[in-house]
Amino acid sequence: MPRHTASTLVTADAHTTLHEWLEKQSAQDLLRFITCGSVDDGKSTLIGRLLWESQQIFDDQLSALEADSRRHGTQGEEIDFALLVDGLNAEREQGITIDVAYRFFATPQRKFIVADTPGHEQYTRNMVTGASTAQAAVLLIDARKGLLTQTCRHAWLAALVGIRHIILAINKMDLVDFRRDVFDDICQKFAAIAKSFALHSVTPIPLSALKGDNITARSPHTPWYQGPTLIGCLETLEIQPAAEAHPAFPVQWVNRPHADFRGFSGTLASGRLAVGDALRVTASGQTATLARIVTADGERASAQAGDAITLVLDREIDASRGDVFSLAAQPLEMTDQFEATLVWMHDAPGLTARTYELKLANQWVGASITTLKHRINVNTQAHEACKQLELNDIAVATLTTSKPLTFAPYAENPALGGFILVDKFTHATIAAGMIRHSLRRAQNVHRQKLSITRAERERLNGHKGKVLWFTGLSGAGKSTLANALEQELHARGKHTYLLDGDNLRHGLNKDLGFTEADRAENIRRIAEVAKLMMDAGLIVMTAFISPFRAERDMARELIGRENFVEIYLSTPLETCEARDPKGLYKKARNNQIPNMTGINSPYEPPVEAELEIDTANTDIAQAVALCCRFV
Ligand code: ADX
Repeated sequence: MPRHTASTLVTADAHTTLHEWLEKQSAQDLLRFITCGSVDDGKSTLIGRLLWESQQIFDDQLSALEADSRRHGTQGEEIDFALLVDGLNAEREQGITIDVAYRFFATPQRKFIVADTPGHEQYTRNMVTGASTAQAAVLLIDARKGLLTQTCRHAWLAALVGIRHIILAINKMDLVDFRRDVFDDICQKFAAIAKSFALHSVTPIPLSALKGDNITARSPHTPWYQGPTLIGCLETLEIQPAAEAHPAFPVQWVNRPHADFRGFSGTLASGRLAVGDALRVTASGQTATLARIVTADGERASAQAGDAITLVLDREIDASRGDVFSLAAQPLEMTDQFEATLVWMHDAPGLTARTYELKLANQWVGASITTLKHRINVNTQAHEACKQLELNDIAVATLTTSKPLTFAPYAENPALGGFILVDKFTHATIAAGMIRHSLRRAQNVHRQKLSITRAERERLNGHKGKVLWFTGLSGAGKSTLANALEQELHARGKHTYLLDGDNLRHGLNKDLGFTEADRAENIRRIAEVAKLMMDAGLIVMTAFISPFRAERDMARELIGRENFVEIYLSTPLETCEARDPKGLYKKARNNQIPNMTGINSPYEPPVEAELEIDTANTDIAQAVALCCRFV
């Protein structure tokens, strides 16, 4: 069997090397692909095999591999190809693959970059935010197991991010005696799923990555198979060049080493820029001419997507981190409400009403999911109703952001349409998203300026509007204290209102229960109402358990830190339970209430409350006096 000629092995993670290497490749000479599959489908073995077959393994690596295979391998005396790509010793010891790496190999026909992306989260995130520009996906399937939910999900993700060629690597055929019916069955099932994706090609190949069947040469074990080998398929896939997206340059930082130099540094997210181009800052509309493109290796006349550059303009303009430059003739759009496909990547559920941090091309804004339109059942393609997002869910949702974002639909420009959602407290990436389109209401609903301002209403009232936000367990004394406080303030001639959980749940919020999602929505609405009432000039007291820090912080942000007083009633659970004014704790202990705060639903104590009162050892008059200091 003729072997392909070897070329240089470039190791993963060497970004400069990668860059240099890429510069030399023309589009048709190079295929970028990803491999996906669930644990144990044989992904590492397959990649190892591809590298081996294209003779990318140096002799010394080979002998190390043989030694390693004997020590750690799962394949007896045979070479364990998985060890070739599984990197670190620690991983080998655990028998799992954890790092993401790019591998390079070449045949006389083509060069290849394969992203070996084991961790679901990393993988999804990189795919969605445009870090992966893969043109094809090799979807590994264990012939014994057939199509798994995970496989279907990967197929969905690949199609969602714009990959148009899928190679269905039906692996471990040796373990099913190379049976044609097993292969055909998987092909048919996959075809049913793939119908709904706009794919240009699906190529199923019966393989044994371990034994080498149908990798470079037709296997004698599959005489019934007429299609290409895996390498043959990779070598001949016809790739349509992607339409060049409009230039977008998100500013990462303003580079001002001394008074004579001012440049905007960042990575060109899409398109090309050349000295002399007229540029526009999307948010402000200011324009200027690009005078110089400075890089670490000196000045350049032009730059392309992926280049780290500093732009110097012909005149002073205002732009800072997060601003996005475009060509003046190809302005970019902004939105603060859009529809997107979300891929949920975290154990904590995704809730409407909760606010997250959203990052899109260096722009950071607050964001919340306004509506969950539907979740996609990856096995059946059905659109299912859903109230919250669970780990691995793929769903279509509408989102709103705290500030307008420069964006483009993902299908037009992945760099400006792919985003991530980040948890405000843990900073974990919890979702990846792709913008489908801006909502028309983002453009068509405007704020109306009112003639009478809050300050004027406050002047008439003789005091400022405020929000005193009481939080604590049921029975902690929130309603009692807020009620007594209101009496006191009223007696002092203040204009007040008390928003009480039990009361609002009979009206405005009667559609809400006590799940995490409903509680978040409960608090979102109350925060909005409290804000309006404060704007009307009132001193507002809210008495809600408001058990989650995320929503209390959202309320603080919405209402404004300077207007917001968080009062934590830290009365211990035992006291609340002993009081049990509504008999709810008793019911909860008898398993009659599923989500009772403090019993079987969490309460997250505040970390920065302005006031903490334990009503077990503070009498009501004292407590009222403490609260009065804030109005
Ligand atoms: S919150 O968690 O969404 O802020 P809220 O303050 O509106 O709750 O409502 C709490 C009140 O609802 C409690 O004072 C109690 O009377 C009643 N309640 C009914 N079921 C529950 C439950 N499962 N957990 C807590 N409170 C409940």
